[in-house]
Amino acid sequence: METSKPHVGLLPLPGMGHLIPYLGLGKLFATHHNFKITIFLVSIDHSSQTESKTIISEMSNELCNIVQLPPVDITSLVDPNATIGVRLPVTMREIVPAFRSSIATIMPCPTVLITDIFGTDAFSVADEFDMLKYVFVSLHAWFLALTIYTPILDKEVKGEYVHQKEPLKIPGCASVRVEDLFDPLLDWTNQQYDEYMRAGIRLRMSDGVLVNSWEELQPKTFAALRDDKLLGCVLKSPVYPVGPVVTQSDDSSKSGLLFDWLNKQPNDSVVYVSFGSGATLSHEQMTELAFGLELSKQRFVWVVRAPTEKSGDKAYLKGRSGDENHDQFGYLPKGFMSRIQNVGFVISDWVSQVDILSHPSIGAFISHCGWNSTLESILNGVPIIAFPLFAEQKMNATMLTEEFGMAVRLEVLPSNKVVGREEIQNKVRKIMVDKEGHGIRDRVNELKYSAEKALCKGGSSYRALSELAKSFEARMQLQNE
Ligand SMILES: *[C@@H]1O[C@H](CO)[C@@H](O)[C@H](O)[C@H]1NC(C)=O
Ligand SMILES: *[C@@H]1O[C@H](CO)[C@@H](O)[C@H](O)[C@H]1NC(C)=O
Ligand SMILES: *[C@@H]1O[C@H](CO)[C@@H](O)[C@H](O)[C@H]1NC(C)=O
Repeated sequence: METSKPHVGLLPLPGMGHLIPYLGLGKLFATHHNFKITIFLVSIDHSSQTESKTIISEMSNELCNIVQLPPVDITSLVDPNATIGVRLPVTMREIVPAFRSSIATIMPCPTVLITDIFGTDAFSVADEFDMLKYVFVSLHAWFLALTIYTPILDKEVKGEYVHQKEPLKIPGCASVRVEDLFDPLLDWTNQQYDEYMRAGIRLRMSDGVLVNSWEELQPKTFAALRDDKLLGCVLKSPVYPVGPVVTQSDDSSKSGLLFDWLNKQPNDSVVYVSFGSGATLSHEQMTELAFGLELSKQRFVWVVRAPTEKSGDKAYLKGRSGDENHDQFGYLPKGFMSRIQNVGFVISDWVSQVDILSHPSIGAFISHCGWNSTLESILNGVPIIAFPLFAEQKMNATMLTEEFGMAVRLEVLPSNKVVGREEIQNKVRKIMVDKEGHGIRDRVNELKYSAEKALCKGGSSYRALSELAKSFEARMQLQNE
């Protein structure tokens, strides 16, 4: 008897950064299991709508259907200064009626809904249409542990975390210094905190939680998440490590001046410096970084953004081109561009990070420790110099250094203080030149190997995905009976 395949509905948060891992997940279900995939696009305005659509059609190769939900206007619902930690959850609540209308018209109706920790209000629609309900955490297992544990901490810790002297002990995670916690937790009076806690509680309603990490990378944390005496008594839903879900580099774009230059450098000899699209350094920090790189006497590629410029990807993507034109780097120290001519490459254009990281000449990455960047670094065997710029990246930095052993950490936190040139020089040399660097490089290569193994047929993430696929098929059969 010919049975049709399950239909998986994905509801990611608005924004490219959130969309990409969902697209990757959808492609896995489509290619490994032949499932039908629909991505429900939430957008805040029309321009982000068009941008997301273009990316999806470029990347999905027709593997995923796209349903564009009408943009939501939350201006009357949130304070104009509200943070993203408030805007996202509110947007995801407001989208529910539109999502419901859309589901009601789709034939066959999806068998499964997979959404973000902030998307669980759509679970009511899933229930109504008899769909399974899953959450996909596009970050790591510590983040999931923290999310589940926050409602417990809320009852246990009297007074705000900031007033805590002792590091916080979250089951399955190394103890986290309070100053390394991420923003919403530091201010209990903030709506952000309430939203985050609510998300932690609502996670319990799910049929399962997928995590963009893999068993062998975070064995202790996954064990704690399943242990009935630890986090397993709070979150009873099964946890599935299915990662690393990342986008792959396509070789076609590896051309131009930068890659011509990289091709001439020895293997593992170049430090790649980039802080992602969301942040800019202060003028003072930029100066110290420039001198630090120069003093280290190592080769480097630095993707710069003008200091103090307002954050926002658009300004960045439209940045001026022309690597030859040194005037555009007037904010860098005087004479810097000519002094580094033969060892450094400074670029302000958008370049594909994966393409750079996968180049054999790259030997280290000065990074803000976003999860995306971390996964890309592991998959290319590149050690990290952790340079967290915001509170919320500090926990990641702790994890990379203390748990994964793939990074060195700065003595001062860049989010609190300017990191001096000597410190930068020392850390660069530690990774690129000193003995300690060899150990870290070996460790990253071990992680790279374990990631590849997890994704291969028979690997842990592959099996987790197959297990999920079985549950989806079982539900489908029940519905057909
Ligand atoms: C993650 O990586 C992809 C591929 O390199 C990139 O397009 C995307 O913007 C990144 N997302 C974030 C949040 O950095
Ligand atoms: C540099 O790396 C590339 C790619 O990994 C490899 O093919 C090549 O043999 C390496 N070159 C040297 C000199 O080790
Ligand atoms: C880690 O990095 C990601 C960015 O990829 C960020 O969204 C997250 O909040 C950071 N912190 C933690 C605790 O996960």
